[in-house]
Amino acid sequence: MTDVLKRVAVLPIDGDEQVAIDEITAALADDIARPLARALAAIDPWARYHFTPSQFAGYFGDPAPIAPRYLLRRGDDIAGLVALKLGWMFGTYLQLIAVLPAHQGRGIGGAVLDWLDQTARGRGERNQFVVTSAFNIRGLALYQAHGFTPIATMPGLINDRESEILLRKRLT
Ligand SMILES: CC(C)(COP(=O)(O)OP(=O)(O)OC[C@H]1O[C@@H](n2cnc3c(N)ncnc32)[C@H](O)[C@@H]1OP(=O)(O)O)[C@@H](O)C(=O)NCCC(=O)NCCS
Repeated sequence: MTDVLKRVAVLPIDGDEQVAIDEITAALADDIARPLARALAAIDPWARYHFTPSQFAGYFGDPAPIAPRYLLRRGDDIAGLVALKLGWMFGTYLQLIAVLPAHQGRGIGGAVLDWLDQTARGRGERNQFVVTSAFNIRGLALYQAHGFTPIATMPGLINDRESEILLRKRLT
């Protein structure tokens, strides 16, 4: 697996632990990608939307330069996945941030958002954007604690019963 991963950061998290951020530089092997896709499909918000593992396949193929993806590693475990879209409305769109349940509540999500903020500022970006479901109270709280402001509600974006919230963070 290591030949397709490039370590770009190691961040401190709660309890004197660390999370490593490994950029996915080429298609991930099936034995990594398939269990991760199953794990993502099994957690909300994606479980509530009945996403299937195959809907995550696009995150594990050859990455495009404008759509970097990162595996989060805690020790030897895969702790989560981050996917970005660069060059989105004068900034970056945080397309997907997921910390798997066994690794949640240890400061990984917050540490990753801080790292994304610093790297975006390093690229001279003006904005960061993220979309999360209105029912995702924890996700909304995390983003707002890290400087994002809700700017639009989008009913029916994913299905007719739910709404998504677009949040923006100004970096200038
Ligand atoms: C939202 C998510 C990314 C947060 O990641 P995380 O690593 O658990 O986050 P952290 O440990 O950094 O905690 C973030 C905040 O949530 C709080 N928190 C931790 N565990 C919690 C729990 N079980 N319930 C509610 N809040 C909790 C923390 O206190 C922290 O708040 P603070 O910043 O005010 O201290 C993660 O829960 C996740 O991947 N969820 C499923 C996918 C998802 O919702 N993605 C984001 C929106 S699409």
